[in-house]
Amino acid sequence: MKLVVGITGASGVGLGLKFLDLLPQSVEVYCVLSNSAKTALQLEQTRSLPTGKNILFYDDKSIGACIASGSFQTDAMIILPCSMNTLAKCSVGIADSLITRAFSVMLKEKRKVVLAPREMPFNTIHLENMTKLSTIGVIISPPMLGYYSNQQTLEEMENFIIGKWFDTLGIEHNLYKRWS
Ligand SMILES: Cc1cc2nc3c(=O)[nH]c(=O)nc-3n(C[C@H](O)[C@H](O)[C@H](O)COP(=O)(O)O)c2cc1C
Repeated sequence: MKLVVGITGASGVGLGLKFLDLLPQSVEVYCVLSNSAKTALQLEQTRSLPTGKNILFYDDKSIGACIASGSFQTDAMIILPCSMNTLAKCSVGIADSLITRAFSVMLKEKRKVVLAPREMPFNTIHLENMTKLSTIGVIISPPMLGYYSNQQTLEEMENFIIGKWFDTLGIEHNLYKRWS
C-alpha cells in the first residue's frame, strides 16, 4: 500500500508521528510536515521523527514532488492532525503547498482521503468546511476518545484512536480491543 501522510500545525503532531511509528513495514509512506507542524512539535516536545521505517519525507514547499501529480499512483491519504487552516484550504481547493496539492490530487483522482481535524471547540466555519468535504467523499475522522475498549493510559487511548484510523484505511492491526 502507498500512503500519503500530511502532518499540519495543530496540537497533537506527536500523535501523527506515533501513527507513522505504528504503521506496518509493508506500508510505503510519503510524508510531509508543514512548517507550522514543525513549530508545534517543538513547542509540544512530544516525539521525534521515526527512523528505520518505509517513509520518505518531503518539504511542504516541494511542489514538484511525486505526490503532487495524479500520475503517481498512491492508494490513500490522511492528514493528521489537520489544522483548521489546512482544512479551510482543502475545502475551497487551494493547493499552495505540497500537502494541499497532494490532497487536491487525491480528490480529483477519486482516491480515499481521511482528515483528522484538531480544534476545540469548532466554530461554524470549521463545521461548514467539514460538512462540505464530507459531502464530496472525504472521511472526517477527528482524534476522538472512545472508552469502550477499557483503555487505562494515554498510550492506550492513542492506540485506540490510531487503530480507528488504521481501520478506515484498511490497515490490519491489534491496537485496541474490539467490541464483541
Ligand atoms: C503549539 C501550537 C498548537 C496549535 N494547535 C492548533 C490546533 O489544535 N488546531 C488548529 O487548527 N491550529 C492550531 N495551531 C495554529 C496553526 O499552527 C496555524 O493556524 C497554522 O497557520 C497552520 O498551518 P498549516 O495548516 O500549514 O499547518 C497551533 C499552533 C501552535 C504553535
